[in-house]
Amino acid sequence: MTVNVLGISGSPHRHGNTETLLDGFLDGAKAAGATVEKIVLKEFQYSPCRGCNACHKTGECVVNDDAIVIFDKILAADIIAVASPIYSMGITAELKGLIDRGQYLWARKFILKTLFFTDDHIKRHKALFISTAGQSWDHVFDGAFPMVTALFNGVGFEYYDNIIANNMDQYGGIKNHPSALKDAFLKGQKVVEVLEKLK
Ligand SMILES: Cc1cc2nc3c(=O)[nH]c(=O)nc-3n(C[C@H](O)[C@H](O)[C@H](O)COP(=O)(O)O)c2cc1C
Repeated sequence: MTVNVLGISGSPHRHGNTETLLDGFLDGAKAAGATVEKIVLKEFQYSPCRGCNACHKTGECVVNDDAIVIFDKILAADIIAVASPIYSMGITAELKGLIDRGQYLWARKFILKTLFFTDDHIKRHKALFISTAGQSWDHVFDGAFPMVTALFNGVGFEYYDNIIANNMDQYGGIKNHPSALKDAFLKGQKVVEVLEKLK
């Protein structure tokens, strides 16, 4: 059975450092035989969570916009690669806004108990975080990790790996990084092979 990979670009900058790194990963996944789709969050229309808590009673979001379409795509994928540059020591507004809109899944899991992911399901669904940052500080990605962990937990995916490259200001962009794009390609290939063995 073909492995389905969904790449989600949370950068508002088209074909910049982060989307290029995501593309490297997706090219590797494609080379390993996966079916690959890339979506770019800034091309979708969705509003932030209103915090109305209606989903606590119904398990549905009262706002019927593209966030639901995106979560349906996530839930149908075997592998997700979620990409965001570091903005103000965290993720972009596009990605954070989407993660918050997944609150209806949280409500299904923890309040209504209508959604449950088995350990086996989680093992067969792998998620990667892809990011770039301008500064060279080793801990520049630390603020982003808990946010994507919340997303991956909410949608029943194992947090499989990170593909991160800092110091973009010094390199003058991802294309000048000595290893990041090749590493991303190899990780794309590898995770598809790992999942094929589990299928
Ligand atoms: C609004 C904004 C905030 C940023 N904040 C940070 C930051 O806190 N730390 C950092 O290392 N780089 C920061 N950067 C730099 C970006 O993370 C970096 O240039 C990244 O590679 C951009 O990726 P992109 O080409 O996909 O947009 C910021 C850039 C912008 C536009």
